[in-house]
Amino acid sequence: MKTLLEFVGVDAHYGAAHILHGVTLGVDEGERVAVLGRNGVGKTTLVNTLLAAASLRGGEIRLRGERIRKLAGHTAAAHGVAIVPQGRKILPNLSIQDNLKLGAALRRPGPWDLRAVYALFPVLAERRSVSGTALSGGQQQMLAIGRALMANPDLLILDEPSEGLAPIIVDELGRVLARLADTGVSILLIEQHLRLARDLSERFYVMSKGSITNAGLMKDVDLEQLQSTIMN
Ligand SMILES: Nc1ncnc2c1ncn2[C@@H]1O[C@H](COP(=O)(O)OP(=O)(O)OP(=O)(O)O)[C@@H](O)[C@H]1O
Ligand SMILES: [Mg+2]
Repeated sequence: MKTLLEFVGVDAHYGAAHILHGVTLGVDEGERVAVLGRNGVGKTTLVNTLLAAASLRGGEIRLRGERIRKLAGHTAAAHGVAIVPQGRKILPNLSIQDNLKLGAALRRPGPWDLRAVYALFPVLAERRSVSGTALSGGQQQMLAIGRALMANPDLLILDEPSEGLAPIIVDELGRVLARLADTGVSILLIEQHLRLARDLSERFYVMSKGSITNAGLMKDVDLEQLQSTIMN
């Protein structure tokens, strides 16, 4: 199994604030990996470091074995990495269809286009002309995922996709992510919803105070054990 994305001893800062401390983690091709941890432990900072929105001051990030320095904006898509950011970041003045097309800038060849995204999320097709912000939270999350898929990524990074969603919508999200996983795309899922993370992922890392404090295989732990490693 080839490693797709690796953080090796990563130290990252926002200005003078030292947030990530020697973080080492990896996602292999076709793998589904969860990053767990309470609020404020540095999960989003992993994404921000990848995008150079937090500064990498030690260690390195490698994509397909090559050290990368900056993966900002569209460059990420061109490298086969698509990010569904925390809070979804739907552009309010654009229609659903235009939000999706935005994800196709610098797209790579592959199965995902408007038709495929609309087949996965029929509700987006029905409402393609309305503004993205006219959607419910769950629908906005589907739009954010659809937009990421338009780039035909090898790796999909989702930052707390279940945040703010009703339980029944989280279940639907879980089914969608499982279907995506079946297409072979690698997934790095940052989540605090442990059941969603456990159902989808093969491996997990736990973060606390900017460091990885635990890691393992999902099949070796139950939800209670996961919960307690996060609280420690
Ligand atoms: N732009 C920023 N400038 C300075 N500090 C920041 C910035 N963004 C986040 N932080 C701080 O970095 C730490 C880690 O934040 P981060 O957003 O990575 O946490 P998180 O694990 O994603 O939390 P949550 O689950 O609430 O999303 C926190 O102490 C936060 O206050
Ligand atoms: Mg976060």
